[in-house]
Amino acid sequence: MPIIDVEERTVPPPSIRVRLAGPRDCEALAGLLDEPAHASEQVLAWLETPGTTLLVAQSEAGVLGVAVLLTRIMPKPGGGMHKVVEVDNLVVHPEQRGQRIGRRLLAAAVEWARQRRAAQVEVMVGETNRAVRRFYEAFGFAASADRLVLAA
Ligand SMILES: CC(C)(COP(=O)(O)OP(=O)(O)OC[C@H]1O[C@@H](n2cnc3c(N)ncnc32)[C@H](O)[C@@H]1OP(=O)(O)O)[C@@H](O)C(=O)NCCC(=O)NCCS
Repeated sequence: MPIIDVEERTVPPPSIRVRLAGPRDCEALAGLLDEPAHASEQVLAWLETPGTTLLVAQSEAGVLGVAVLLTRIMPKPGGGMHKVVEVDNLVVHPEQRGQRIGRRLLAAAVEWARQRRAAQVEVMVGETNRAVRRFYEAFGFAASADRLVLAA
């Protein structure tokens, strides 16, 4: 007889789909971001800013994560111009982390960028932010000068 009977409960990861955000998502998104007092304003501003795209991870329980993407036409290192999609922010609800929701949002963001013929997807992550760096590196991003970049 075991001294402690541990019941192992393996909860399957939530089923999600990734979709574009709209004004109706404002409240749910504000709950995901820091500084809730200003978050609604921030989300509305993002939604109204050309070149800014919000993808959300939607489950039956609600919105579990968001990716904020900035699209820019930038000079290429070797000359000419190309389209770059920057992941400006990517947040998964704190209670839902570690279930590959971030990875699925990032995969959707990369696919979104490919469909728009972006040359690369990039993200700025501080040297000291090891966990977030590992998240992007695990996906395939690699450092390029001060950026982590993935060919789209
Ligand atoms: C970064 C973040 C979006 C990751 O989302 P997530 O859903 O928890 O991550 P996933 O479960 O999809 O992880 C995918 C892979 O990334 C890596 N990873 C994720 N979190 C990690 C951590 N804390 N430490 C190390 N590696 C990590 C792992 O390799 C993981 O693969 P595994 O499941 O095989 O171990 C989430 O932790 C978050 O919202 N953080 C706070 C906001 C933030 O700092 N965002 C980044 C700003 S751009």
